[in-house]
Amino acid sequence: MARQLRIEESLRTFLITGATDGIGLFTAKLLAQTAPAVEDPTAKRIIAIHGRSEDKLADAYGEIQCYGDLNNYEIRKFCYDFEDMEQVDKFVNDVLKKFPGDDNDDDHTNRQLDCVINNAGIFDESAPNYSKCKRYELTFMVNVVAPFIITKRIMEEMPVKP
Ligand SMILES: NC(=O)c1ccc[n+]([C@@H]2O[C@H](COP(=O)([O-])OP(=O)(O)OC[C@H]3O[C@@H](n4cnc5c(N)ncnc54)[C@H](OP(=O)(O)O)[C@@H]3O)[C@@H](O)[C@H]2O)c1
Repeated sequence: MARQLRIEESLRTFLITGATDGIGLFTAKLLAQTAPAVEDPTAKRIIAIHGRSEDKLADAYGEIQCYGDLNNYEIRKFCYDFEDMEQVDKFVNDVLKKFPGDDNDDDHTNRQLDCVINNAGIFDESAPNYSKCKRYELTFMVNVVAPFIITKRIMEEMPVKP
């Protein structure tokens, strides 16, 4: 695995959607591997991984933990299926609850989610059991609508560092 990844020191908390496979899982491993050493446990890098299967999330959790020093990062899991608009909404509510911003914090230094990686997506549209049109609709939902809603709601409801 490539070891070169430059991440600004001030970025501490990361959310990666679709982190149970492929590029998302690879990215989560890189974030674990490159987590800076911390003395204070509250300063650990937080890597929030999302997937749609509890089993795959558990496997990913186990795999990521083989990278880097566990004293320097923490993994949080989120399980939601982005084919379903209601689940996308619940996912954002859950994220906002677990990474609250602070409305009274003018310079946003208490903001708790620094980076969102909208990676979840359907790359292979050959899923069985659906008509072609239905597959295109689901692909559009997962690849376009879900990241739009996630980004928009998080930007609106969580203060952003200027
Ligand atoms: N690989 C490429 O060459 C390439 C090129 C261009 C763009 N991309 C895009 O880059 C992203 C990652 O690609 P990849 O090759 O790493 O894909 P991948 O290996 O198929 O992984 C996709 C991830 O998205 C998750 N996902 C799929 N459908 C979902 C749904 N309905 N709800 C929630 N999560 C869902 C998958 O969960 P499961 O593990 O449960 O399926 C998995 O974690 C995708 O958005 C893809 O379209 C990839």
